[in-house]
Amino acid sequence: MSGRGSTITGLGRAIPSRVLTNADLERMVETTDEWIVTRTGIRERRIAAEGQTTSDLAYEAAREALAQAQVEADQLDLIIVGTATPDMPFPATACLLQDRLGATRAGAFDAAAACTSWMYGVAMGHGYIVAGLAETVLVVGAETLSRITNFKDRATSVLFGDSAAATVLQPAPEGSGFLSFVLGSDGSGGSLLSIPAGGSRAPASFETVERAQHFIQMNGREVYKFAVRMIPRAIQEAAARAGIPLEEVDFFIPHQANIRIIDAAAQRLGAPREKFFVNVERYGNTSSASVPVALYEAWAEGRIAPGDLGVLVAFGGGLTWGACALRWTKAAPESAT
Ligand code: ACO
Repeated sequence: MSGRGSTITGLGRAIPSRVLTNADLERMVETTDEWIVTRTGIRERRIAAEGQTTSDLAYEAAREALAQAQVEADQLDLIIVGTATPDMPFPATACLLQDRLGATRAGAFDAAAACTSWMYGVAMGHGYIVAGLAETVLVVGAETLSRITNFKDRATSVLFGDSAAATVLQPAPEGSGFLSFVLGSDGSGGSLLSIPAGGSRAPASFETVERAQHFIQMNGREVYKFAVRMIPRAIQEAAARAGIPLEEVDFFIPHQANIRIIDAAAQRLGAPREKFFVNVERYGNTSSASVPVALYEAWAEGRIAPGDLGVLVAFGGGLTWGACALRWTKAAPESAT
């Protein structure tokens, strides 16, 4: 180890103003508020305005994170955007963001690990800093999942929402900030959660659109089982790699996909449920934005304080999963209650 670590010095988020409630969905597909709340915990989600893109949300979140970190855009060495909904297949959304921010010195690329993309991006950013390849890295999780959601499919349309969050990573003494990372994948489960068309296997065509293959397709039951199995395992591994007994973890920030998944993970771990931050009822599953938006809110609400030990955990398509343990370093904003 080099003695050099990294930590989050700035956070920002972007939440579209349009709210889609369960009552709205009742008018669109055959579902009920009661079914959605009891099966998922979701009450409403945010939907990007017409013409509002993933890079628009990423930009808004990034501006706030840079201001929080007191970093100018031209200080950035690297920009990583985690997203499953890039503005377009290429150029990377990170490059669009780089240009808009005026981050003239930064390299930029997207990380594609579905809902785990921000976590993969943070692991990469941390690695660049620890290796001495970068001093300041912007990692964003940004999604407009409403653009790849089939609003005729009740099994998926009730789950997803749009938002973004950004984090600035900078060097920190080893032992503060990020303490460990766990990244995993099981490609054999790839078909459980996918967008089948639009790539080289099934290029977009009238037929693929007719078959709705440009939308998210999901085997919910199997993904649920995977998540309930993998989240506790990833949390335990991240804590063990950091040398932290689980009881000493002050807060958990899990991927916000389904309240039942979070409840089951807490129960399996024997960890107090109140240590798990939850906002799924307001945003639904926002994929790679989910963990950093939750982290932002936990921080902005003053629920996490410098010195606290935390574990963040994500899972998603690929299948992929990722977790990290950290010792939090950033004081809550003045507005925190
Ligand atoms: N409203 C009413 N009924 C519904 C709805 C709905 N919105 N959706 C499904 N149903 C019905 C089904 O048709 C089924 O009916 P049937 O028994 O007559 O066939 C019944 O409800 C039960 O369906 P299940 O799929 O078994 O319901 P389950 O309790 O598993 O809940 C859910 C479904 C919420 C999708 C759950 O499986 C889940 O959360 N899975 C994980 C999903 C997830 O986390 N995905 C994101 C991964 S991250 C990423 O990378 C995007």
